[in-house]
Amino acid sequence: MRKPIMAGNWKMNKTRDEALQFIYAVNEAIPSIEQVETVVFAPAIILRDLVKRQGDNLRIGAQTCHYLENGAFTGEISPVMIKAVGASYCLVGHSERREYYNETDKDVALKVAALINNGITPILCIGETLEARETGKTEEVLRNQLHIDLENVSIADLEEVVIAYEPIWAIGTGKTASPEIAEETCKFIREYIAQSYNKKVADGIRILYGGSVKPSNVNNFIKEPDIDGCLVGGASLDPASFIELCNACK
Ligand code: 13P
Repeated sequence: MRKPIMAGNWKMNKTRDEALQFIYAVNEAIPSIEQVETVVFAPAIILRDLVKRQGDNLRIGAQTCHYLENGAFTGEISPVMIKAVGASYCLVGHSERREYYNETDKDVALKVAALINNGITPILCIGETLEARETGKTEEVLRNQLHIDLENVSIADLEEVVIAYEPIWAIGTGKTASPEIAEETCKFIREYIAQSYNKKVADGIRILYGGSVKPSNVNNFIKEPDIDGCLVGGASLDPASFIELCNACK
C-alpha cells in the first residue's frame, strides 16, 4: 500500500502573516499523518516560521535548492540549509524552474542526489508541453527526463523519491488532463521505473498528478490506481480548499 500525498505548492505567494494564518487554520483539520502525507511547499524566507508552528500532521517543504552545500551562488539555498531549518521535502525540476530559470535535467539530477544525501524527500516534477502531447512525443519526453533526472540515484535510494507528473499545458490554466490521460501517463512512469530498476521499487514509488487540481475534481484523479496523490498550486492557497483536498485522499 502506497500512502497518499497531498502537496500544496504555494509558488511565490503568501507573506509570513498570511502563511501563519494558513498553518493555524489547517493544523488541526487535516488528516492524520498515518493516513495522508500532507506537505506545503512555501517560500524559503518563511520556512523556519512554518516549521516552528507545524502541527503533528503537516510537513513543510522548500520549492527549489542548489545542489552544493555552500558557496558563491547569490540568492540560492542549499539542501543543508533546508535540513537545518527542519523542512523535510523539496520540489525539484518544477516546469516553472525549468522554463524561467533554465534548470536543465543535469541540474535536476544533481539536486535530487543532493537532497537524498541530506535526508530530504525530493518531489521530482516532470511533464510535457502541449506541443509534445499533440505530436505524440509525451512518452519520449518523460523517458528522457526520468533517464537523466534519476541518473545519480541508486535503486535503494529511489524509494525516497516522489515523482510528480505535471503536464505543462495543465498548470495554472484551469485545464486539467482528463483522469484517463493522467492515469495512463502515471502508469507509463511506473512501468518505466519497473523496466529501468525493478518491479518492487516501481510498486512502492509514489507518483502524483499536478495541474489545475481543485476540490471539485480531485476525486477523479486519486481514485486512479497509479495516482498516489496530487501536487496542487492555486487551490492549495486557501485553507478550506486545502483541507478538502487533503480529506479527499483519506
Ligand atoms: P495549479 O494547480 O495552479 O495548476 O499548479 C500546479 C502546479 O504547478 C503545482 O506544482
